Amino acid sequence: MTLYGIGLGPGQADLVTVRGKEVLESVDVVYSPGRLSRTVALNHVEESKIGDLDFPMTRDEEKLRAAWKTAAAEIAPQARDGDAAFVTLGDPNVYSTFGHLRRTLDAFHPDVDVEIVPGVSAMTAFATALDVEIEAGAGLALREAANGHAPTGPDRMILFKVTDAPATHEGLIDAGYDVTYGRRLYMEQGETVITDEPSEIDERDYYTLAYAVKRDLDIEPATAQFDASDESATDASEEGEA
Ligand SMILES: C[S@@+](CC[C@H](N)C(=O)[O-])C[C@H]1O[C@@H](n2cnc3c(N)ncnc32)[C@H](O)[C@@H]1O
Repeated sequence: MTLYGIGLGPGQADLVTVRGKEVLESVDVVYSPGRLSRTVALNHVEESKIGDLDFPMTRDEEKLRAAWKTAAAEIAPQARDGDAAFVTLGDPNVYSTFGHLRRTLDAFHPDVDVEIVPGVSAMTAFATALDVEIEAGAGLALREAANGHAPTGPDRMILFKVTDAPATHEGLIDAGYDVTYGRRLYMEQGETVITDEPSEIDERDYYTLAYAVKRDLDIEPATAQFDASDESATDASEEGEA
């Protein structure tokens, strides 16, 4: 049988994919690494299906390895006897705890079959939430920016784990970027904030990302001409649409 790694999307229950929902409904047990993912999963499964896992809040790698070994030892028999799911917010393959579980299973329980159901990642949801278009031909780099870190270099970056927005902001502005922040995008819990002002989000909240774009970037897609064109206005008024 199978362990399914299911991406739940950014946090709203109706952004779980149809496949994710179907698999959640079909498995015998659903494990979650945290309160938020558990709350989203509970929109689609009975509480009695939720399995217990305990994850310590620590950066101590020894303790983390021990916790993942314990989690894998709990999950492996469930995924051998039946089908089980491990849910994560966003996508299971993007900066996700699921990677730790998969590696631990590969090392200690290699007979467990693993299948992944992709989810809507914050990495794509941010574009709609922040009204940003990544145009054809544009590059976009993914970086982490915890604890005031301000990575620089690429023309456009999406920064995850922005836990100290004012400090990150200072570094990015100095390096020539315009920055927009998104907090708790498409999430049911907590307030969604979208802002260019880091002082509005100076309180630490792990569910914060930033989009940074070089200030002097000159982008001119072919259709940009339409904005300024008299021709389109003339066409429309001739047909009585202006
Ligand atoms: C450990 S990563 C998990 C990413 C997740 N697997 C995904 O694909 O979106 C957590 C970081 O993702 C970003 N993030 C995830 N969900 C978010 C949301 N709904 N709103 C804003 N940022 C979010 C934040 O930067 C957060 O610190």
